[in-house]
Amino acid sequence: MSKPVLFDNHGRPLTYVRLAVTDRCNLRCFYCMPEEGIKYLPKKQLLTFEEIERLLGIMAGMGISKVRLTGGEPFVRRDLMQLIRKIVDIHGITNVHLTTNGVFAAPYVEELKALGIASVNLSLDTLDEERFYRITRRDEYKLVRETLDKLLLHEIPVKINAVVMEGKNTDDIIPLAELTRQHPVSVRFIEEMPFNGEGSHYPVLHWTYRRIEDYLKQQYPGLQRLVDPDNSTAYHYQVPGYAGNIGIIAAFSRTFCGTCNRIRITAQGVLKTCLYDDGVLNIRDRMRSGCNDEALKSSLLQAFNQRPKDGFEAEKLRLSRMPASESMSTIGG
Ligand code: GTP
Ligand code: 5AD
Ligand code: SF4
Repeated sequence: MSKPVLFDNHGRPLTYVRLAVTDRCNLRCFYCMPEEGIKYLPKKQLLTFEEIERLLGIMAGMGISKVRLTGGEPFVRRDLMQLIRKIVDIHGITNVHLTTNGVFAAPYVEELKALGIASVNLSLDTLDEERFYRITRRDEYKLVRETLDKLLLHEIPVKINAVVMEGKNTDDIIPLAELTRQHPVSVRFIEEMPFNGEGSHYPVLHWTYRRIEDYLKQQYPGLQRLVDPDNSTAYHYQVPGYAGNIGIIAAFSRTFCGTCNRIRITAQGVLKTCLYDDGVLNIRDRMRSGCNDEALKSSLLQAFNQRPKDGFEAEKLRLSRMPASESMSTIGG
């Protein structure tokens, strides 16, 4: 049987779903959520594992082949591995990825390898313990490093995500890039986006992708531009002779929307067809009101046929709040 193919209203293939398994997190990265007063979702508002499996099964039947589990911190959800074991067995899902802050992940690396996890993206904005504390408001740097070392040891492809923040971690750009000298990792520098859960400000972007690129080129005059994989959010570079590569993600400038192949399911089971929209379909409620697979599929298709062309249009169409009132931990990045 040939593989199903799914397109949106702009002719972009949809192959990739990012699913937040929880909004909870054991860190408090300031670009993601406020330090205190976070209102976490009651457990019953989260999709159950059964609902997640059902939804992914339906989506796989429609043409989705790649799943990324995100959060919050996915490992804060109890029995996450149980869910992953189920997801890798869903027919049609060929690539399962994980984005994690790495604090709790080390003990699971062997099993992730055995399950054939395609890659792990690790959020790590600094290699300095003190700065790590200032950024995440938690003293967990060593555990994250342990996870990184273990991922490398077991040869699971790793991407490191570093949000570049004026006055916070710009001294880490080069040390992080230097990780690519010996290790076959991809270190990605990300523009900061206004999803910090504070609702109070829309930060001025000091470190645009162009500035990050200029900065890297000053340090590495021989920096080579690589060919980017299809549907990549990152521009890729390499220092000649280094084992890994460097990526720059223009997450705020949104330069890659034209080839966007991804949809999102938030922690409370809401479909987002763009990171910058405010949710277009409450899948959880539809499921809980007894909607059958066919009906669910047709409401998904309807949403896929109304995708905004880019993140700017999605932002304009938001009915409710400014993006800053949302936390990345519910959206899943
Ligand atoms: P892969 O391409 O599967 O490796 O995933 P990724 O790099 O997109 O995922 P990851 O979870 O590591 O996210 C890295 C950064 O890219 C985060 O800051 C994301 O929020 C951002 N990002 C991911 N997808 C999008 C998107 O569709 N639009 C925007 N603007 N940013 C995105
Ligand atoms: N801007 C840009 N990236 C962010 N992330 C979390 N919050 C933000 C933000 N406000 C990134 C983290 C994580 C990924 C899923 O999203 O680096 O690795
Ligand atoms: Fe937690 Fe990730 Fe948000 Fe940091 S960015 S607080 S690690 S969900």
